[in-house]
Amino acid sequence: MKTTTEKFGATPHQPSLWTRADALKVRADDPTTTQPLVSADFPVLNNDVFIWDTMPLRDLDGNVTSVDGWSVIFTLTADRHPNDPQYLDEDGNYDILRDWNDRHGRAKMYYWFSRTGKNWEFGGRVMAEGVSPTAREWAGTPILLNDRGEVDLYYTAVTPGATIVKVRGRVVTTEHGVSMVGFEKVKPLFEADGNMYQTEAQNAFWGFRDPWPFRDPKDGKLYMLFEGNVAGERGSHKVGEAEIGDVPPGYEDVGNSRYQTACVGIAVARDADGDDWEMLPPLLTAVGVNDQTERPHFVFQDGKYYLFTISHTFTYADGVTGPDGVYGFVADSLFGPYVPLNGSGLVLGNPSSQPFQTYSHYVMPNGLVTSFIDSVPTDEAGTQIRVGGTEAPTVGMKIKGLQTFVVAEYDYGYIPPMLDVTLK
Ligand code: FRU
Repeated sequence: MKTTTEKFGATPHQPSLWTRADALKVRADDPTTTQPLVSADFPVLNNDVFIWDTMPLRDLDGNVTSVDGWSVIFTLTADRHPNDPQYLDEDGNYDILRDWNDRHGRAKMYYWFSRTGKNWEFGGRVMAEGVSPTAREWAGTPILLNDRGEVDLYYTAVTPGATIVKVRGRVVTTEHGVSMVGFEKVKPLFEADGNMYQTEAQNAFWGFRDPWPFRDPKDGKLYMLFEGNVAGERGSHKVGEAEIGDVPPGYEDVGNSRYQTACVGIAVARDADGDDWEMLPPLLTAVGVNDQTERPHFVFQDGKYYLFTISHTFTYADGVTGPDGVYGFVADSLFGPYVPLNGSGLVLGNPSSQPFQTYSHYVMPNGLVTSFIDSVPTDEAGTQIRVGGTEAPTVGMKIKGLQTFVVAEYDYGYIPPMLDVTLK
């Protein structure tokens, strides 16, 4: 098997590498890159459902957009089952942790609206039951296309398979709220090809999901980021000198890190509408470092490309580690080369005393970072937890050159609009 550099060497752009040496610089609990402690007495957005990945309505340039003064977010959502015998423990008590851990299998796309950018009101499901072709509606991006309220929802149709799809509908507002209409015809766009991006046949634990379409501020073309793994049979990847990077003596052993093969994928649209896509080699790979670079997204600032992606402690490779949270990389042009922000890539991680307090961070162009609450310890030892399934406090962050700094904390689920579109 080839190293990442050998594999993509002949392609128009070379993926940038997040190396083991970069990851060795990750420091948990650095206050400038650590999310403030989330209190265990957090409010719950809605007691009937769990919500996790949050997707603010935005335009193709990345700006979070309200319509007629209404902010709109989409969330991955699953019913809570406090009375379902399946989720009662031996004593007849609701086993919320098991219910929460099972949520991915029944994830559906819901929407919420607000006049204030917080205290979200329940909208409902975006697509009616039966519209989406597979069991799971996984993360993606809702794009407001124009002032007629047309919305393209890009998302991932999962199980069977994993297909990047899109469905078009319309946002309609009244004085009292927001509704989503249409969203009736799901169009498959593409799947992993097995040549650049790993397929299910190559690895049962493959990742291929989380589309994030955008217009490149420099060339004006329509592209899409997504999460992938580097193609090849599981276990066949080679962690070579380039993937290792410049490590100190004693750090050359890569252990079993060949099993961790995450990448940030990119595709370019062949048409203006984004119905026809061509996959390109990944922008960034993490072979030998980490197995998941989820929900990749950009902030375009100061003429630079700030690439953010979420990852977990449990997906790190042998010999490297870091907190659950959002990691970042920066380049002067779309195809790189990308260098890790803050030296290591870590931008906003959970504190080690509450390693699962939040996840699925989304960095907005105004420096605000939204995420959801996963679980927060309720005792000193950390043996008792309270499950979230709701919005976390928003964090304010400054992005300066090659560094980022936590500078503020806001209310739970605070996602203010950056611009408002008056619908015609
Ligand atoms: C991130 C994530 C996404 C995926 C979804 C599945 O939290 O793993 O990558 O689309 O959750 O529930």
